[in-house]
Amino acid sequence: MCGIVGYVGYRDAASVCKDGLMHLEYRGYDSYGIASLSPKLSVFKSVGKISNAKNISSLKGTCAIGHTRWATHGVPSEINAHPLTDCGDKIAVVHNGIIENYAKLKAALIKRGHVFKSETDTEVIPHLIEEKYTGNLLDAVSKILPMLEGSYAILAVAEGENTIVAARKGSPLVLGVGDSEYIFASDAVPLIDYTKNVIYLEDGDIAEVKSDGYKIFNGKKIVKHPISKIEWDASVVRKSGFPHYMLKEIFEQPDVFSNTIQSVKENKEVVALIKKASSITVVACGTSANASMIFSYMMEAVCKIPTRVVVGSEYKYFPTPASSLVIGVSQSGETADTISALKISKDMGAKTIAVTNVLGSSITRTADVVLYTRAGPEVSVAATKSFTAQVAAFIEIVNLVSGKKLEPAVSDILRYLPDVVSADVSSAVELCKNASTLLYVGRGMFYPVAMEGALKMKEISYIHAEGYAAGELKHGPFALLCRETPVAALCLHGATYSVMMSNLKEIKARNAPLVAVGEAGDQDLEDLCDVFIPLPKVSEYAGIILSSVILQIMAYHCAVALGRDVDMPRNLAKSVTVE
Ligand code: M6R
Repeated sequence: MCGIVGYVGYRDAASVCKDGLMHLEYRGYDSYGIASLSPKLSVFKSVGKISNAKNISSLKGTCAIGHTRWATHGVPSEINAHPLTDCGDKIAVVHNGIIENYAKLKAALIKRGHVFKSETDTEVIPHLIEEKYTGNLLDAVSKILPMLEGSYAILAVAEGENTIVAARKGSPLVLGVGDSEYIFASDAVPLIDYTKNVIYLEDGDIAEVKSDGYKIFNGKKIVKHPISKIEWDASVVRKSGFPHYMLKEIFEQPDVFSNTIQSVKENKEVVALIKKASSITVVACGTSANASMIFSYMMEAVCKIPTRVVVGSEYKYFPTPASSLVIGVSQSGETADTISALKISKDMGAKTIAVTNVLGSSITRTADVVLYTRAGPEVSVAATKSFTAQVAAFIEIVNLVSGKKLEPAVSDILRYLPDVVSADVSSAVELCKNASTLLYVGRGMFYPVAMEGALKMKEISYIHAEGYAAGELKHGPFALLCRETPVAALCLHGATYSVMMSNLKEIKARNAPLVAVGEAGDQDLEDLCDVFIPLPKVSEYAGIILSSVILQIMAYHCAVALGRDVDMPRNLAKSVTVE
């Protein structure tokens, strides 16, 4: 949600901001804008896609700030788009986060004669800066920050100074350190074309950046944060010949799997904490919650450690006893509900672990211990490789905690995943793409796989889809079964096979078209279903990853067949930073 980019150096700053904001498009947005200094402040704002922006070439200069806005306070419109300016249009600000006391501040500013143009909470910031500005932007921003309640990542510029002043509290902000050039962004992806050197700003930081250097303050003190190296290459954030990021990211899964396994092996602390735990609570949202549910099945079955999963937004109603180890799982590391659940559990005295894909993300500052899944940046809103990475991390954790009981799963996945990513699912797509409702069913660990398959399908194809434990169908959803309601079933050999087969016969008896993912050579299953998608004979734990990938591909091709905006589905944002 909302993306921020700022550049100061020697290049055409507005173009750098535009390109950077296009790299952040996946965060989700409805309008955008850029302000540049040349030396006069010029602002361009619009509604819609930034790739369609025509007039940005009119913005000159080597210092600019830009923003993609996901509307919270005020409708998506040119006026409400950032940057927002002061009364004299000499100071411009972009902001990610929410200023909770803006109404009070706005009323006071209006009384003091300020005229507001937008309905946003953000606009109070340039007006407050205007009141304190006497030719030094750093000084003015430092004076107004204590007045702001809520969360923010802010970039500000003022006419007359080729400087960006940035501040962070609760919303992500990174600084790329190049050679006589500096670039701010909401995450590291836009930096990659300019530098691999990155500073992750901390809460309370204020940075003053000019083309000849930067200073970071926290309170009144200058702070020296370490410069980290971005671990991946620019090719990771390009489509590289794929029609969509989602397909590219699906194809990256075999490499990701190995990277993640390695990351767990190197992280002795996480495994040690889990070994000691008498019970575990996992908090996560969406796809991360589905991956976490697979973890809970594995932990209970293999390691015999009671493990429950609570979705981030519900955690406050089910707080955990302090004796439980709490694991927050979030690809982006910015999901507000997951982070606030971790904070609650920390306040209650629980030990906390964050499992995330994004280095330096907010969740890494909240948890006691961090495990990086190392899937590389995921651009498509639909999580694919990050899900596989989470499940891979969980498999390896269980492997290490249990004394290598899941080793066969790891080798099966390494062997078969490269072929499975290009499996032929065209008949399944033909059968599903015109449905208005789809049901996904599985048992045991394949139940969360079914939920994840349904989530993927609904978010990118807009076909209503639900994942169920196969045994639950008879308790209500059976009423939906008819020729128009296809069912996708996960029916691999293993503990759940025979009872799944009975469930599938019951489904077929209600005339519902059936797509089944099963083991190659399973003639009974092939005869029963309408479309059979064979997987190699693998261990049950490998089957969860391989069948999840099949469901990702099915969702992808359905969405393409329906002409959907696959990488940026309507109404969704990649990182959900509001509760
Ligand atoms: O970044 P997180 O893993 O915390 O995100 C949680 C969900 O918002 C996310 O998994 C969402 O459900 C995906 N778009 C699903 O593909």
